[in-house]
Amino acid sequence: SIEARVDDLLARLTLAEKAGQLTQYFYLGVAMNIPADFDIESLPEEHRAFLRQPLMVQAAIRSGGTGAVLFAKDPATINQLQKIAAEQSPHGIPLLVGYDVIHGLRTIFPVPIAMAATWSPEVAEKAQAVAAREARAVGINWTFAPMIDVTQDPRWGRIVEGAGEDPVLTSAIAAAQVRGFQGDLTEHNVLAGPKHFAGYGASRGGRDYDDAEISDAELWNVYLPPFRAAIEAGAANVMSAYMDLNGVPASGNTWLLTDVLRDELGFDGFTVSDANAVRSLHTQHFARDLTDAAARALAAGLDMEMAMFDPAYQRIPDAVAVGQLTEKEVDQAVRRVLTAKFRLGLFENPYVDQEAAATVLTAESARELAREAAERSIVLLKNDGERLPLAAGSSGTVAVIGQLATGQRDTLGPWVFDHDTAETVTILDGLRARAEDGTTIVYAPGAGITERIHPSPFDRMDPTVETTPADYDHDTAIDQAVELAAGADIAIVVVGQRQNQIGEKASVSTLDLPGRQLEQLQRIHATGTPVILVVMSGRPLDLRWADGNVPAIVQAWYPGTRGGDAVASVLFGDVSPAGRLPFTWPRHVGQVPMIYSHHRTFQPEEQHQRYTDDASTPLYRFGHGLSYAQFAYSDLAVSHDRIAVGQHLTVTVTVTNTSERTADEVVQLYTHQRYGTSTRPIRELKAFRRVTVAAGQSIPVEFTLGQEQLRYWSAVTRGFVQDETTIDVFVGGSSAADLTVTFDVGS
Ligand code: IFM
Repeated sequence: SIEARVDDLLARLTLAEKAGQLTQYFYLGVAMNIPADFDIESLPEEHRAFLRQPLMVQAAIRSGGTGAVLFAKDPATINQLQKIAAEQSPHGIPLLVGYDVIHGLRTIFPVPIAMAATWSPEVAEKAQAVAAREARAVGINWTFAPMIDVTQDPRWGRIVEGAGEDPVLTSAIAAAQVRGFQGDLTEHNVLAGPKHFAGYGASRGGRDYDDAEISDAELWNVYLPPFRAAIEAGAANVMSAYMDLNGVPASGNTWLLTDVLRDELGFDGFTVSDANAVRSLHTQHFARDLTDAAARALAAGLDMEMAMFDPAYQRIPDAVAVGQLTEKEVDQAVRRVLTAKFRLGLFENPYVDQEAAATVLTAESARELAREAAERSIVLLKNDGERLPLAAGSSGTVAVIGQLATGQRDTLGPWVFDHDTAETVTILDGLRARAEDGTTIVYAPGAGITERIHPSPFDRMDPTVETTPADYDHDTAIDQAVELAAGADIAIVVVGQRQNQIGEKASVSTLDLPGRQLEQLQRIHATGTPVILVVMSGRPLDLRWADGNVPAIVQAWYPGTRGGDAVASVLFGDVSPAGRLPFTWPRHVGQVPMIYSHHRTFQPEEQHQRYTDDASTPLYRFGHGLSYAQFAYSDLAVSHDRIAVGQHLTVTVTVTNTSERTADEVVQLYTHQRYGTSTRPIRELKAFRRVTVAAGQSIPVEFTLGQEQLRYWSAVTRGFVQDETTIDVFVGGSSAADLTVTFDVGS
């Protein structure tokens, strides 16, 4: 059995080798191509440190000083590292090879927030199965994904990596991704590492890494459910977060990493720190020194440290020597790590077949799925007068405006590392390919997009990152764009943020369109040419002016490798859009944070008058998204008017496509509890289903509500309760659903 093999191996390891198994090094890889006689010492120190790092990691693997790497991605390199581990290290223990395979490796799917906007867990699962196959083919056997931090503040850059503001939607997408990555853990799968445990999405002010203050009720009801779902789906790994949660760093937090994660959520895999987060226990002034940091992190339940240089976990033997840790605690962590390696089958075969990898990475079926996912993710925010879809063959001259319409790297979004930029279909490419005789596409880049004031750490590593040159002539570019649009029959204006204006370390203090994109849009609108606005972003942006003036607005996200094809399919009506917002879209940054699931208040009738200088409603609601078809909801019914606590009932509704085109609809079920131990939000998503309804057809949709949906964590009882109460059910196509039915929960 795996257990016996782990015990046998563990018994042969020295304490230093055990610490090695608990250490994961970045592998920057540059040393692979350095001639043996190259004089590294002749370089400036900062270059020397990075160049020496891979050599240092190779030496560590050889000595048993590390059992895992990250950021190696080509099969030759990974095979070479595995060879050192399997054939030259003391016990021949293969490596865990981790990477941020977030929304694809070579085939890039829409960014995760877009995948959530599909409201299609089945597509998210298929996409991550493709990502896993590509990753495993090159030798990566573990991904630091899915990112399932509920995010209610869109200033936070990492909103793009998660599934938005809602715990039920995030949970469904989280579980699907874990199933996709891990499957049955065959040679085509990777370990999934849901992250970041826990509460990182609540960092103060949306500022990355800042501390989070979250009540226990919020934690249990909002932030932890996605982790529960991911663990129930079998996640083999969990990554700890950086920030302080209620005054205790998440990576040294015994309550989080043991009491909650292991005892309450039942996690039995291994945990890893976020990069350098164990050292950070010292930086954050929690630990006295690095030995203290290592001892307290490990004792708290953090099995592996991810580090660039000088890992704190190399001091584990010192911590044991001074009695700050027991070897039993160390063994428990090593056991979990070795178990993962055996489960992956690495001891049987740590190597990959380089030629086979090339075939996997170029599979056309993967690109087709990326296109389908992107089509499903696009949200039609506004479509007055049925301005969309456009006729592919009779739209005359269509002016496409905006740098984001041609940015290949921008189309892919953040968190891609092994992409093939050249094969990316941009929005302009997609429109050109789809337009037929009778439609001519012309293009102008127009307004530049202002750059980040603090450069992204990843930009340096990625030569494909697009930027606006410092000497870009904005005035002339805008004039040219306006002139081109003025002479066209339709203007498709693509606005938004570059991919490096969102993601890790990419928080913002404003939701305004960067640079002069709004001014340009206003000038194009003033020409009288009808405008279709396409937004490329991973967060809500301030679209107040556009919403008030532009007839059609499409949220395209960062749509991935085949993103341009997908945008063209939607704009030309090959598919009817059915993506729905996974977050509330505020009017402007001053409303942030704004969520649909707030509580009822004193004077609820004035809920929308809370600000005296602006509306207190969002621009677009959670779950919002239009269609080219029309849907009607009827016959909403519950199977029982009254159930006892612990029992369940079914909710049925008829969904009718009253239009003449077949289309998808996302049927959403919300509840509200009228009274109870604690107050509950005015609406909470409890279930949803994306369905395809043929033109003119009606279909029944059924949901189940029971204790799992109706219980919640109350600060009164300090535990989960299900109240005897009255529940209102709302079903419809967004969180504004108005068809309602009621039932009682009694004893
Ligand atoms: O996986 C990531 C994490 O989400 C943020 N810090 C770096 C890690 C490794 O790239």
